[in-house]
Amino acid sequence: MLENLPTVLTTARLTLRPFTEGDAAPLFRIFSDDEVVRFWSAGAWTEIVQAEAMIEEAMAGYQEGGLCRYAITLADTGELIGICNLRGFFEQNRRCELGYALGSAHWGRGYAFEALEALLGHAFSALDMNRIEADIDPRNDASARLLERLGFRQEGTMPERWIVHGEKADTAFYGLLKRYWDERALSRSSPDAAG
Ligand SMILES: CC(C)(COP(=O)(O)OP(=O)(O)OC[C@H]1O[C@@H](n2cnc3c(N)ncnc32)[C@H](O)[C@@H]1OP(=O)(O)O)[C@@H](O)C(=O)NCCC(=O)NCCS
Repeated sequence: MLENLPTVLTTARLTLRPFTEGDAAPLFRIFSDDEVVRFWSAGAWTEIVQAEAMIEEAMAGYQEGGLCRYAITLADTGELIGICNLRGFFEQNRRCELGYALGSAHWGRGYAFEALEALLGHAFSALDMNRIEADIDPRNDASARLLERLGFRQEGTMPERWIVHGEKADTAFYGLLKRYWDERALSRSSPDAAG
């Protein structure tokens, strides 16, 4: 039984749902793109079994806990456009790590922000997290902009933590606390809030 099957999350334009075995082909299309893996330590996928392995890992996460992985799909067509997940749960300290990627055809439309806003809301409420962490390549400007829009704060850097396509790459480490999230929600609902 898949005891940790994540709750489906819906937004204005998206449905975040658990992965199924039928998702391998669209998932493969996302990660076989050099642009998508530009800042990842692994290369672009070349075999469908790599997509199947990511789905199996998601299924194991639904069964055993420890990984909460969502397929990001367009609400109107059902097209799978990306993934996002929480992992590295440390229950005693109520923290975990965030990961995400969108197919490059869907960048620049606010879909990642919309998906992660729903996922983070879920993490701070239903999953009772207090702190969510993200580790990104400092050259990944789109990812940094996304995290900062969501309220993450950069907390430090770690030099040469990764080898990205043969090149030493640093980590920019970000954290989002529940209290930042609540403050952001309050400032957005205040009548004096800008934007
Ligand atoms: C990181 C990543 C998800 C960011 O995607 P993105 O499309 O830039 O992010 P968003 O969905 O929040 O879209 C924001 C952009 O859409 C624009 N946009 C258009 N319509 C919008 C809307 N309705 N709402 C919000 N933003 C909108 C914004 O102006 C913004 O553009 P800008 O980045 O030029 O300022 C994407 O670059 C990616 O998948 N990269 C590869 C994987 C990766 O690096 N993952 C992170 C490493 S762990």
